[in-house]
Amino acid sequence: MVCLKNANINKVIILETKIVKTDISNIDSNQIAELGRILSTGGLVAFPTETVYGLGANAYDDNAVQNIFKAKGRPSDNPLIVHFADVGDIKDAVLEINEKAKLLFDTFSPGPLTVILKKSEKISKTVTAGLDTVAVRIPSNPIAQALIKASGVPIAAPSANLSGKPSPTTSKHVIDDMCGRIDAIIDGGNCEVGVESTVIDLSGEIPVILRPGGITYEQICSVLPNAVIDKHILKSVSADEIPKCPGMKYKHYAPDADVTVVEGKICDVRNKITSLLYRQTGRTGVMTVGNAEYKADLVINVGEDNKAYAKNLFKVLREFDENNIDVVFAEFSYDDGYGLAVKNRLYKSAGNKVILV
Ligand code: TXA
Ligand code: MG
Repeated sequence: MVCLKNANINKVIILETKIVKTDISNIDSNQIAELGRILSTGGLVAFPTETVYGLGANAYDDNAVQNIFKAKGRPSDNPLIVHFADVGDIKDAVLEINEKAKLLFDTFSPGPLTVILKKSEKISKTVTAGLDTVAVRIPSNPIAQALIKASGVPIAAPSANLSGKPSPTTSKHVIDDMCGRIDAIIDGGNCEVGVESTVIDLSGEIPVILRPGGITYEQICSVLPNAVIDKHILKSVSADEIPKCPGMKYKHYAPDADVTVVEGKICDVRNKITSLLYRQTGRTGVMTVGNAEYKADLVINVGEDNKAYAKNLFKVLREFDENNIDVVFAEFSYDDGYGLAVKNRLYKSAGNKVILV
C-alpha cells in the first residue's frame, strides 16, 4: 500500500510512502531487510517502539538526518536520540560509557530509557543540534530491534509526529502526520507504554532526569539514588532561559483543541469540571480517569490509573481533534510512578493551563 497525503506541506518533496504491515510476533526477515536497506541508503522509515513510533534515519548520514527535520517541521536546534540494538554497539558513538550509564543499561535496557553521554567524533552536530553530548537508547520492541539490526547502522529517530503534535502511538497516527513525507511506515500495532522514554543526563556529576517517561523516577533512584529531576519538567521555559533539554522550549503534545488540566482529588475534580462545562459555548470534551458522566459532547475514559493514562493519553488527545472538539477538560490526580510522566505531557498539551482543586 502507498499514500501521498500531506505531500505539499512545507515544500517537502513529494514521495510515495510505502505502508508495510508487520506482525510483531512473526517478523518477516525479507521485509525487514528491505526496510533496513531503505535506512542504510539514506531513506526515512517510521517504526514502532515500545514507547511511541519513531521516525528513523541513518545517524551517520547527515543528509538523511536533515530530512527528518524537514519531514517533521522540527526546529534544527532540537537534537535527536540515536537508537542501537545492543549496548555493545553504543561505544563508537560516545566518548565513554561511564559507570552510572552501565548500571542503568544493565537494569533497564533494552527498554524505555535514553541516556545522555559525551559524544564521539562519529556523531555529527546535525544529530545533536550542536551539542557535545548525544542521547542514546536501546528500544525493546522486536520490530525496532530487527530493523536496527537489518540497517547495520545507528538510527537517529525522534517521535514520528509533525512537530508540536501529540506523539504517535498507532500506525494510523503516523500515517495521518507523515504520509507523502517519508519513504515507509511500518504498521506494527499499538505502542505499549504510550509516552516516550525517560531521558537522563549522565554527562555530568549528578544524574539529571530531563524528561520523565517509561522508566519511573523511583526506578531510576533504585539504581542511582542521587538522581534529580530537572526543574523544567513541570513548568514552561521563559524566553531568557536555555534548558538542558532543548525540546523543553517548544510547544508539545498539543492537539488543536484547547486543553485545561483539572488536578486534585477525583471527586473535587469532577465537581469543578461539571461547573466549568456549564459556561462553555463550543464543542466540549472531557478526559476521565475511569468511568464518569458529564454533559459534554465527547467523554473519553483514559483508564483507571496513571499507567493506563500514559498509554492512552496521546491517542485520546488526537481523538478529540478527530471529533472537532474545541475545549477539553482533563481529569488528573497525581501519584508516584507514571504520575510524573503523565503530568509532564498533560501540562505541556495544556500549555500549562492547570486548575488545582
Ligand atoms: O521514546 C522515545 O524516546 C522516542 C522513541 C522514538 O525512541 N523518541 C523521542 O524522541 O521521543 P524526540 O526527538 O521526540 O524527543 C527527544 C528529546 C527531545 O526533547 C530532545 O531535546 C532531547 O530528547 N534530547 C536529545 N538529545 C539530547 C541531548 N544531547 N541533550 C539533551 N536533550 C536531548
Ligand atoms: Mg517528540
